[in-house]
Amino acid sequence: MTVRPPTCAADVCRPFVATRRTTICKATAEPRAVTSPRRTIMGQKRYARSLRQEERRRELAELAKRPRAPSIREKVAAFNAEILETADLRAIKSWDDARGTVASASSGDAEVEGVVDAHRVVVGNLPVDLRPEDVKAALTPFVVEKARDAGVDAAKEIVGDVGVGVFGPCRPKTRRDRDREFRGFAVVRFRSASGAAAAAAALRGTTFRTASAKWPERVLSARLDDKGEYDDAYVCGLRGSAPKIPDKVPKKEPRKRWKMAELENLPMRQKCLSTHTRFSDLDGKLRVRLLEYFSTAIPAMPELAGVVLAMEKSAPHYLRIKELMESIECFNLILGHLNSAESTAGRSTDDDVRVYDTFFDLACGHGLVGVLLAYAFPTRTVRSFDHAKRAAFFAFCHAFAQMRETMSRKPWTVGAIDWDTEEMFVASNRLEETNDASTAPEGVRDDEEPALSNIIFTLGDIDDARVLVNASSFVFAAHGCNEANKVAVEMAKSKQAVWAVMPCCIKASIYLPESVVSKLDDDAKYAFMCGVMCQKYDAQLIRAIDTRITTRAIVLCGGIKGFRKHCFVIGNNTKIQRERERKVEAPPH
Ligand SMILES: C[S@@+](CC[C@H](N)C(=O)[O-])C[C@H]1O[C@@H](n2cnc3c(N)ncnc32)[C@H](O)[C@@H]1O
Repeated sequence: MTVRPPTCAADVCRPFVATRRTTICKATAEPRAVTSPRRTIMGQKRYARSLRQEERRRELAELAKRPRAPSIREKVAAFNAEILETADLRAIKSWDDARGTVASASSGDAEVEGVVDAHRVVVGNLPVDLRPEDVKAALTPFVVEKARDAGVDAAKEIVGDVGVGVFGPCRPKTRRDRDREFRGFAVVRFRSASGAAAAAAALRGTTFRTASAKWPERVLSARLDDKGEYDDAYVCGLRGSAPKIPDKVPKKEPRKRWKMAELENLPMRQKCLSTHTRFSDLDGKLRVRLLEYFSTAIPAMPELAGVVLAMEKSAPHYLRIKELMESIECFNLILGHLNSAESTAGRSTDDDVRVYDTFFDLACGHGLVGVLLAYAFPTRTVRSFDHAKRAAFFAFCHAFAQMRETMSRKPWTVGAIDWDTEEMFVASNRLEETNDASTAPEGVRDDEEPALSNIIFTLGDIDDARVLVNASSFVFAAHGCNEANKVAVEMAKSKQAVWAVMPCCIKASIYLPESVVSKLDDDAKYAFMCGVMCQKYDAQLIRAIDTRITTRAIVLCGGIKGFRKHCFVIGNNTKIQRERERKVEAPPH
């Protein structure tokens, strides 16, 4: 008989340790532990690890947000910039007019009244953490005292002030000087050579005490300036060639490439982008980053950024960031699958479809994925179906048609964006809903034909597409709910068309009428049901767009005849470029 062991203190302390079993010993009738290896509850370690990783990620994100102290390089550059700002650059003297011979080792300090040839003593090894004026204040009486000790009449012999060697335009700070307040030497001028020599001898090797925190005592060096180098210009860092004045306008850093991690800087719901944020709700910095995304997300179509900017003027309320990004990312996956389908068709002998000439956007809603395809492939047709006629669809068509018109005259490049002005943008009517998204923008009527010539909208049920779909069709449904995905995929399969769906809500009863799917959280259920669909329809490519854009991020693609696993090509825009180069007029319909 097995009984549960009495709860021991150790087990209480370790909640993850499985309860150990015991048996009753036949001999002693005492409970006896059955030794079995300690096990943790399944997944518990992984869960604990993910918590730690999450914590670490949060810490790193916090650290990244903290303002960074200036680097050594920045501090040195700021110091030198200030020198340049304040120095009298006209006082700079070249080395050519410096006195450089032993014979004329004199300062020629014209400003020192009555003294033509002063003799200089260079005092070195001074504590460099003090300000030059403090060094001067401490060194002057010290020199006077030492000179007197050496029998030099300091009052008569010392000429002018002690000159402390400071950094200047010709001798700026380097990285090595980062902790220095001055250059570590000072110059004292004497009327006579003998006075200078005696004072230098007296100063050499003496201990100089100051308030320096780092070097309160320094043993000084002292020597005669026998090469005549240490004149005022040199001491002030004004001897040498004039420095190049850096451009007052700071060099603009090149724009950084967009990274998906930047999604987290945008307004988010718990897990993904906020549904309602529109492009014009973002202030300059984020706006610029999104423009960077729009201009690079589809490499062959940088003008996407131009379309967004143009559309912002006429219909800003349709530019919801989440919808824009999920449509663009979905477009890229559809393009990848199209590449696979057409490259496979080119190799396959039993399939004569080499070009999928009609796209079917079923349950199109705002229809941006279809509009992007129509714009990218002007020689092919897009047929969009929906129960409802949405003004956003017509607004997108209008904006892309205008861009196509612009591009026919002159290619649009990112150079057209005034990045500085965009960066200054301040969102004004943030999240204000007065501009009702259900109304069409000015100049766009939703009872008209879509402005893009190669897109056809059908108001009605997606089932109406069935008669039009054939083996050279590409059927897709982006965030079509429940049955819409099923109808789309089954329609495509029945006509041997290529297909892609990005399901949104998937009722379990549609695919598993006999099963109970319960106690799965939303993400798990979504992933599970996508798996079920994938199995049911023989999906060939299963890939998610970034889940920070949408939590309904999985795209299932299939329908390629003779599909071979290695043929998936994503990010290849050659097809778009080729169609563009051909500049073929869109087919009439
Ligand atoms: C969530 S929206 C999807 C919009 C869009 N495809 C997208 O990329 O986000 C779902 C759309 O499907 C349409 N819809 C759902 N079932 C449909 C059906 N059987 N026939 C036509 N339209 C349908 C709805 O009118 C709605 O516009």
